[in-house]
Amino acid sequence: EKGGHKHFMSKEIAEQPSVVGNALNHYVRGGAIQLPTELDFTKIERLTMVACGTAYLACLTAKYWFEQIARLPVEVDVASEFRYREPPMTRGTVALFVSQSGETADTLAALRYAKENADQIVSVVNVAESSISREADISLPILAGTEISVASTKGFTCQLTVLLIMALHAAHQRGHLTAEQLAERLDQLHTMPGLMNVALAGSSAVKAVSRKLASATDILFLGRGAMFPLALEGALKLKEISYIHAEGYASGELKHGPIALVDKKTPVIVFAPSDALFDKTISNMQEVMARGGKVLLITDSAGAQQAGEGVWETLILPEVDDALAPLLYAIPAQQIAYHTAIAKGTDVDQPRNLAKSVTVE
Ligand code: M6R
Repeated sequence: EKGGHKHFMSKEIAEQPSVVGNALNHYVRGGAIQLPTELDFTKIERLTMVACGTAYLACLTAKYWFEQIARLPVEVDVASEFRYREPPMTRGTVALFVSQSGETADTLAALRYAKENADQIVSVVNVAESSISREADISLPILAGTEISVASTKGFTCQLTVLLIMALHAAHQRGHLTAEQLAERLDQLHTMPGLMNVALAGSSAVKAVSRKLASATDILFLGRGAMFPLALEGALKLKEISYIHAEGYASGELKHGPIALVDKKTPVIVFAPSDALFDKTISNMQEVMARGGKVLLITDSAGAQQAGEGVWETLILPEVDDALAPLLYAIPAQQIAYHTAIAKGTDVDQPRNLAKSVTVE
């Protein structure tokens, strides 16, 4: 049942090229995006996205896509806050709920609140026969297949895939991408399964560095732009299964507090493809290194070259379009958590105190 893998988590990590490919083939056919016609982004003024845990971090990533590519304002909230704050929702607001299980109690309660207040309720779910799927006006499956490991991996990247396709569709409908530009973006997206395979093949390097991480008591994760939510996801995944205290920060926040934590014993993991913001990230890294911090840089070969001397460890990924980077960089984030947990000997698939689906508050 684990298909030759020791754990469901490693099986599910390895499945990502194929399930992301499935989601792509479902939503993009004959070069055209297939989404329900009732989902009309020309009529939407604001998107409110609500979820918990990793699904929330997928929403936070998608905010960058919807806002930067489709120029659509997005609010993102954790369901437990949203449901009790009972935020006013203005006309033209569509509420979007993301959930792997489709049964998370807080997300479902938030959906029920929004039903009376939003123009339309959309859900992005893995389990099609679930409450969050049934109670939405439009429900979009992520087609990840059954996810058993408590730590969500393929659920996250399939959520990202569907949300990115939605953002591209929105950008086209709202006149921010021409048909040609959209086709180019979709072509790039189709390279993702292949790129993910390359990232998966780098697992022995991740394993080697994870053995060193396993002795740390605190680890910081940094990222800028859409890599910021991924830094949060890397920290969440590591906490969940290795029980090492980890925190994710926007790189630019370093000076505003977390740099006080940096010392020789605190590894700092930086997700930084060589994009437009790379220079800024390098200077953040230098600030860490100047204080004796050990930087694990996850980048592409151009980034590794630019980073220069003094970096503790580097993991190299293929070069990738900016918008697609969160999908690709998710793989080493998951592998680090997995191999660090293995090195510590914790129960990877059934971490202490956690349930796969949080159906009670
Ligand atoms: O089933 P859901 O996507 O609604 O679950 C949300 C969170 O409980 C879930 O993502 C949790 O954070 C995972 N254990 C993360 O790995």
